[in-house]
Amino acid sequence: MLVAVTGASGLIGTALVERLHAGGHQVLRLTRSRPAAPDQVHWDPASGELDPDALAKADAVVHLAATNIGEHLRWNARIKRELLESRVEGTSLVARTMAELATRSGGNEGPRLLVCASGVHYYGDRGDAVLTEADGGGPGFLAGVVRQWEAAADPARAAGLRVVHLRTGLVQDVAGAGLPKQVLMFRFGLGGRLGSGRQWLSWISLDDIAGAYLHALTHDELEGPVNAVAPDPVTNAEFTRILARVLGRPAFLHVPAIAPKLVLGELADELLFTSLRARPARLLETGYTFEFPDLETTLRHTLSRPNQR
Ligand SMILES: NC(=O)c1ccc[n+]([C@@H]2O[C@H](COP(=O)([O-])OP(=O)(O)OC[C@H]3O[C@@H](n4cnc5c(N)ncnc54)[C@H](OP(=O)(O)O)[C@@H]3O)[C@@H](O)[C@H]2O)c1
Repeated sequence: MLVAVTGASGLIGTALVERLHAGGHQVLRLTRSRPAAPDQVHWDPASGELDPDALAKADAVVHLAATNIGEHLRWNARIKRELLESRVEGTSLVARTMAELATRSGGNEGPRLLVCASGVHYYGDRGDAVLTEADGGGPGFLAGVVRQWEAAADPARAAGLRVVHLRTGLVQDVAGAGLPKQVLMFRFGLGGRLGSGRQWLSWISLDDIAGAYLHALTHDELEGPVNAVAPDPVTNAEFTRILARVLGRPAFLHVPAIAPKLVLGELADELLFTSLRARPARLLETGYTFEFPDLETTLRHTLSRPNQR
């Protein structure tokens, strides 16, 4: 396949491009920067710039580009608008361009498949409920962002193209936005469970999120939402215990919920205290085998902390 990838320079994009090349596929990388290699093409979602001819030969588009949710320490109205708009405008531009290509050629030209990044935050704060793709959306700012992000792909769907939304859990990787911050806290002896510690974390390894994108690209039966999370979510208390064990550091602290809420505001509620216990029902039903189904093995692998026992 020739796969066009937006946001190919990011955490997931870099891993996915490597896997696509290893599988013998060709990649066209769409970037907002000046193209610096023959496989790169310029686009600018903020100003609606994407040359349809650049996509004409691609078999599929993987759309990852968006402002990083963990990039800012506190959200304000401007940052929240950017988190939403970078997702909705980029997706809408890709979907409209693909629809235009399909329409102008009577279906003979252009990619027939769009695999979009999405977030497990679609489900909102749902306590202990096990969430599959059959569940509806929940409350909260990020849940609303994800709903609009997915809806922005409607033009591609309306043009008869296959569209998949990978509702991704927090990627546990040493190069990710969340894990290095937590490791630092533990190194300073400040690691501990947050609030009640009962909130569920839906996570996935970098290898498996790249694997899930490849699976979506090659399995025609996948369409619509797909939970891209490991089969074994953990509570915050379990996560804290496992990370402490992997790092060989204590985790006696209990951080009262009020502390991060005062420092981080709404971001704390959305990212640290929202309870998401998602199950990768569609990935499992369609035969995806997780390389890293278990959190401790994943953390030991990415943090280069092999089990000493
Ligand atoms: N990592 C996670 O834990 C996680 C969890 C859930 C969902 N996701 C979603 O998965 C996708 C990829 O995640 P990632 O962690 O690989 O992201 P990332 O490392 O932050 O990379 C995203 C890429 O998007 C482009 N980009 C950045 N800001 C942008 C903007 N304002 N408008 C358009 N493009 C922009 C950049 O590429 P260029 O500069 O080359 O254009 C960047 O390399 C994102 O949509 C993210 O929301 C990630």
